[in-house]
Amino acid sequence: MVRVNSQLRYGIKRIATAALKALGCEVRRLKELPPRMPGIRHADVLPLATYSPWLGDEEFQNVYELIKHNTLVDQYRCYELWQLVAEAGKLVGGDLIEVGVWRGGTGALIASKCQMIGLQGEVYLCDTFRGVVKAGSRDAGYLGGEHADTSKAAVTGLCDRLNLKHARILEGIFPEESGESLAERRFRFCHIDVDAYQSANDIVQWLWPRLLPGGIIIYDDYGFYNCAGITGFVNEERRKTDRVVIHNLNGHAIVIKVPGGAM
Ligand SMILES: C[S@@+](CC[C@H](N)C(=O)[O-])C[C@H]1O[C@@H](n2cnc3c(N)ncnc32)[C@H](O)[C@@H]1O
Repeated sequence: MVRVNSQLRYGIKRIATAALKALGCEVRRLKELPPRMPGIRHADVLPLATYSPWLGDEEFQNVYELIKHNTLVDQYRCYELWQLVAEAGKLVGGDLIEVGVWRGGTGALIASKCQMIGLQGEVYLCDTFRGVVKAGSRDAGYLGGEHADTSKAAVTGLCDRLNLKHARILEGIFPEESGESLAERRFRFCHIDVDAYQSANDIVQWLWPRLLPGGIIIYDDYGFYNCAGITGFVNEERRKTDRVVIHNLNGHAIVIKVPGGAM
């Protein structure tokens, strides 16, 4: 009897959700979700602002159409990356790097924007191409090996289709297996989309002395229910005085290196 009732409730909910979707409405949860990690609480985030500049940005829309089937990242976060590449262009010099490329969507978007605005510098796209690594006890939601359904060839193909001249693909665990060739480079922009605490930590340890003052790090998955490790890691970064940490409600955390702060 209990089972029939819950199945009936589930069925009614699905039909009501589909009917509202057909009318252009979305059903969202108002209740807090059960916590996955102590101290990290979750509820659906529903900002009230409506300004949507990506809708009228033709250059962005053209590129987004070409990359959207190669990314797990939504349009809001893609547009923020697009804008932050231009902000990083205000710094003098420095390359750009993404760790966590999967099928190349956000990496190609970043490289496209660079090329469009004539930003000097290489765009390094780093991935194991064998999925998430270093998942551990802090990473509720990840076990390791996720997102292995890609290849270097898939990313090369996308970069070729977009005619990207400065995208460089590096295969291997970053930084241990692929960081050596970049040891002497300096960076103005870094997108970290690796899903696991220890990977994020190792990347930032490597990157920080190479990040220019004013340089920007964007963490994907900050605040996502299944990415407790990234949320926890960024929260720890707040204790450091040489970086400004911004929680963006779209699921990004943005970190800016304080000019004049400790190297
Ligand atoms: C969520 S996917 C990236 C999504 C991608 N940015 C997009 O546009 O959808 C995470 C990727 O991080 C990669 N990865 C995780 N840890 C890594 C590490 N330490 N070094 C290199 N790649 C890593 C995985 O192989 C996986 O492809």
